[in-house]
Amino acid sequence: MMKKTVLALSLLFAGRLLAQTPNWSEHIAPILFNNCTNCHIDGGIAPFSLVGYEKAVAYAGGIKSATSNRTMPPWPADLQYQRYAHERVLSNEEISAIANWVDGGMPKGDTTKAPAKPVLKKGGTITNPTRNLKMPDYTVKTTSDEYRCFVLPTGFTQDQFLTAIEVIPGNLRVVHHALIFHDTGSKPAQLDAADPKPGYLSFGGTGSSTSDLIGIWVPGSEPYFFPNGFGIKLLKKGNIVLQIHYPGGVNNVIDSTRVILKTTTAPQRQVAIQPALNHNAPNLQNGPLYIPANQVKSFNNKYDLPLDVSVFTVGPHMHLIGSSIKAFGVTPNKDTIRFVDIPKWDFHWQRSYTFRKVVKLPSGTSLRGQATYNNTSSNPLNPNSPPQAVSLGEGTGDEMFLVYFWFTLYQPGDENIIIDNSVLKNVSKTSVIKTEATRIYPNPTLDFAWVSDIRFTEGTYHWSITDMTGKIILKGSDIMQSGKRCKISVSDLPPGAYQISVQQGNIRFNGRLLKQ
Ligand code: HEC
Repeated sequence: MMKKTVLALSLLFAGRLLAQTPNWSEHIAPILFNNCTNCHIDGGIAPFSLVGYEKAVAYAGGIKSATSNRTMPPWPADLQYQRYAHERVLSNEEISAIANWVDGGMPKGDTTKAPAKPVLKKGGTITNPTRNLKMPDYTVKTTSDEYRCFVLPTGFTQDQFLTAIEVIPGNLRVVHHALIFHDTGSKPAQLDAADPKPGYLSFGGTGSSTSDLIGIWVPGSEPYFFPNGFGIKLLKKGNIVLQIHYPGGVNNVIDSTRVILKTTTAPQRQVAIQPALNHNAPNLQNGPLYIPANQVKSFNNKYDLPLDVSVFTVGPHMHLIGSSIKAFGVTPNKDTIRFVDIPKWDFHWQRSYTFRKVVKLPSGTSLRGQATYNNTSSNPLNPNSPPQAVSLGEGTGDEMFLVYFWFTLYQPGDENIIIDNSVLKNVSKTSVIKTEATRIYPNPTLDFAWVSDIRFTEGTYHWSITDMTGKIILKGSDIMQSGKRCKISVSDLPPGAYQISVQQGNIRFNGRLLKQ
């Protein structure tokens, strides 16, 4: 009798402990500082900071919904399809802790137990780099997308192997994404000399046939470390060519991006980065890549491997009207090897995905890609309103279909190389970026909504609100608020669903807002 009571009491006590509301200092701050504040920090790429208790409280509702929908942190690949090294996702437990904290009145807890406040990272993550190459200051002043290449001499006196690479954007507001090439020819220097400004304009790759891709940077990217013993060969006579994409509508903003390289002269197994799945014949099965206005169209590509290879990383690439992309391999004995599935493509959150273990692809494996493009007005990222035919090209208004592979020639045992053996987080739901939800908030709203988009820059923008019959009911222009966001007031509108459009230069945002 006595024993039973004690047991019942202790169970009750345990239950209470579990049900205890999490507090910011001990439970929530660590989640936010580990998963959010690399972007959500003053001067970071996100439109507001989540550093400090007051900030977390101010955005509590949004934090709860963005984490439970898995729209934040951004991680577009479907984790039911494949799991990756260094995933930036929250576990189910972390998501419930946030929800319980918000629902439980957001207690602060004992602030002496809170982790140290994160600070904006200005330097690199790679320690003791071999080279820290800074491009010349460049004043960005453009009304349309600008792709500019900067030639950065390495000064190497011996051939090297690249073992880690990192890009530090000079100005997060204007550096959209960057490709880093290694070039052993003289063409880039000639093109640079012919262009009066720093660097040279180049819409395609670098404009040089001797350029090889060695790295990719997009907002929120971490540095890339090759597995131990592997690297990309850099000849001493080569230069780094940094191609940066600046969005249109930027007026006199200075950028000076840096490329950090870690290299060794010790021989490494050679890695290459190639778009083995691409939009060119004969790879593209049902080309050409052309999407008529008001159509949803899918394409397939295919490449049969002539050799055994080992793959570390894949990186899918499309532009604005891309809506989904998937890549896998079918081995000669018909096993399917899953690479990546992005059910809702979002141009802003393209990134590369590194496998947790090196993946062996036997000779004869058929690499397959599937991509769908939504060129209708239901696609909030469609840059054209009304939609216009889109074909293959380098501009953000054109389309592409590429899947890059970071690979090396296979050697026995490669499939046992572990890249990340951290414990996998428990993730029950597919993580899919819901574009509209992330960019219009709060949504639904009573009085006003913020519209944010990482493509926005400072300066004027035009906005309009359309009702469900397609009639424009309000429009105007305004100046962008700090953090690349616009404040749209809807307090005078009757409750209902509306379409919000914001236009800046040739960047257009469309999304749906619910007014309560
Ligand atoms: C890689 C950078 C990055 C990381 C990491 C990140 N965010 Fe964001 N977040 C953004 C950007 C940029 C926006 C603005 C929307 C846009 O342009 O897509 C945003 C928007 C938001 C919004 C407003 C829109 C919405 O979805 O309701 C909330 C809330 C938010 N983030 C919360 C978080 C939380 C909480 C975390 C961590 C668990 C997090 N974010 C991690 C970049 C990031």
